[in-house]
Amino acid sequence: MMRTLDTPALVVGSGIAGMMAALKIARDMPVILATKRTANVSSSDWAQGGISCVMDPRDSFESHIEDTLGTGSGLCDEDAVEAIIRAGPEGIRALESFGVRFEQKVETPGGYDLGREGGHSFRRVLHAGDITGHAIIQALVRSVLDEPRITLLENAHAIDLVTTGWLQAPGENTCLGAYFLDTDRDEVFAVRSRHTVLATGGACKVYLYTSNPDVATGDGIAMAWRAGLPVKNMEMVQFHPTCLFHSRAKSFLISEAVRGEGGVLVNQKGEKFVEAFDPRGSLAPRDIVARAIDHEIKRSGAACVYLDITHKRAAFLKNRFPNIYDRCYALGIDMSREPIPVVPAAHYFCGGVEADVHGVTRMPGLYVIGEASCTGLHGANRLASNSLLEGLVMAGNVSRAVVRLDDHLPKDHFSIPDWESHHAVPSDEQVVVEHNWSEVRTCMWDYVGIVRTDKRLERAMRRIRNLRNEIREYYLDYLITADVLELRNLATVAELVIRCARKRKESRGLHYTLDYPEASPEAEDTVLHDPPGESLQLLNT
Ligand code: SIN
Repeated sequence: MMRTLDTPALVVGSGIAGMMAALKIARDMPVILATKRTANVSSSDWAQGGISCVMDPRDSFESHIEDTLGTGSGLCDEDAVEAIIRAGPEGIRALESFGVRFEQKVETPGGYDLGREGGHSFRRVLHAGDITGHAIIQALVRSVLDEPRITLLENAHAIDLVTTGWLQAPGENTCLGAYFLDTDRDEVFAVRSRHTVLATGGACKVYLYTSNPDVATGDGIAMAWRAGLPVKNMEMVQFHPTCLFHSRAKSFLISEAVRGEGGVLVNQKGEKFVEAFDPRGSLAPRDIVARAIDHEIKRSGAACVYLDITHKRAAFLKNRFPNIYDRCYALGIDMSREPIPVVPAAHYFCGGVEADVHGVTRMPGLYVIGEASCTGLHGANRLASNSLLEGLVMAGNVSRAVVRLDDHLPKDHFSIPDWESHHAVPSDEQVVVEHNWSEVRTCMWDYVGIVRTDKRLERAMRRIRNLRNEIREYYLDYLITADVLELRNLATVAELVIRCARKRKESRGLHYTLDYPEASPEAEDTVLHDPPGESLQLLNT
């Protein structure tokens, strides 16, 4: 008999959005918070720059909204932008109530030491040194562990959602919970919940080079898609311009805040090059800077470019960027004396599962928040440090939506069928997983990267479809493992990115194609909504 846990609310994912949502929902009902590793592992934990929020009386919501819309290149949903930005200060106070401490500066009106990043016309980034995400996650983990109404399940890897549609029950397709793989015990269990909140983050591991941790495999996006929900603007993948380029450093970001403090991008000869693309130079929005670097690397044949902040004193750099300074120093780079070698890397998914700013989706009982969702805040390009803000605000919003919608959900007690492995056996072909994992990521990097063409996208689609077929067979033949679940989700997300990219016959924001270098007069979302069928056939068969 399969273990089934019952709860009014299930939250999947333990980044800022997931943990804040669990803490807020727990005020009204018990919550299960499930996460596939330990609670402190997430992309949020790696966020360096901080949270953008209007906290200085000389700044204004209007200015933050305008910067967000400008960076989003015509594709933002203005109501979503307005709602999220105006709710920022309340979210910051909530974080502080859970023990997060942001850097203070008494002489600044508002009292916070605010950083500056690309695309912002004002200093408005709250930070905790250069480990803002880590400071937030530490505080939230402590609060979650102290909250008796939250049951934390670690090493619980979500497999798929359970829906009434999949059970072939009559009525509107409604979410009933999810199946999980307990990776400690190697067994499948289910959580039955009236409300399921996916806060599973993005999918940048789909690219060979990324600033994200290994967990960013798009699990929630792929699960929601398989359950029949539409996804939106998946082609809008943000490449962060400055990841450390070093053979011994994997996925280490050099925060945009370094450019905010005067760091300048130069080529091998020490010449500035971004200015030829945008008068804002190194502080132009990320799509422009990443493309300028890509162009410079291809033009010169160099392996990387450099970020020069040597005009700042070592004492300042050690104090403002202790983590970056130490990490570079340990690798033999003294950033106060020499420029830092950097390259762009996949950093953030602006697209995701279609949801409103409360995380409400088209499926009753299912909510998607944070990077896994597409609310319209980021449009075609995300303004720096708006992502923690979105996760934070949506967490508060979803907690209210869950209470508001509680009475509207069916009260029938569906039983969740036992997980069937059918003829699956333990794998003796792990090499297939390793190989396909790197093939998906290399294919995406080479053909669906910063600069795209129709031909590259077609090539990528052929390869990813073949890989998906192979992965599907593997998924059915062998007992599931965390690696296979992640690979299956990555390959699904890869296909969604390519399909959206092929639909967009223009260049806008993060999607740049040599075949259609101009933006169309009308900005339109790319929405994928497959007929049910693909979604259901693979679930638990
Ligand atoms: C950074 O510190 O550069 C990352 C901030 C962000 O992605 O918003």
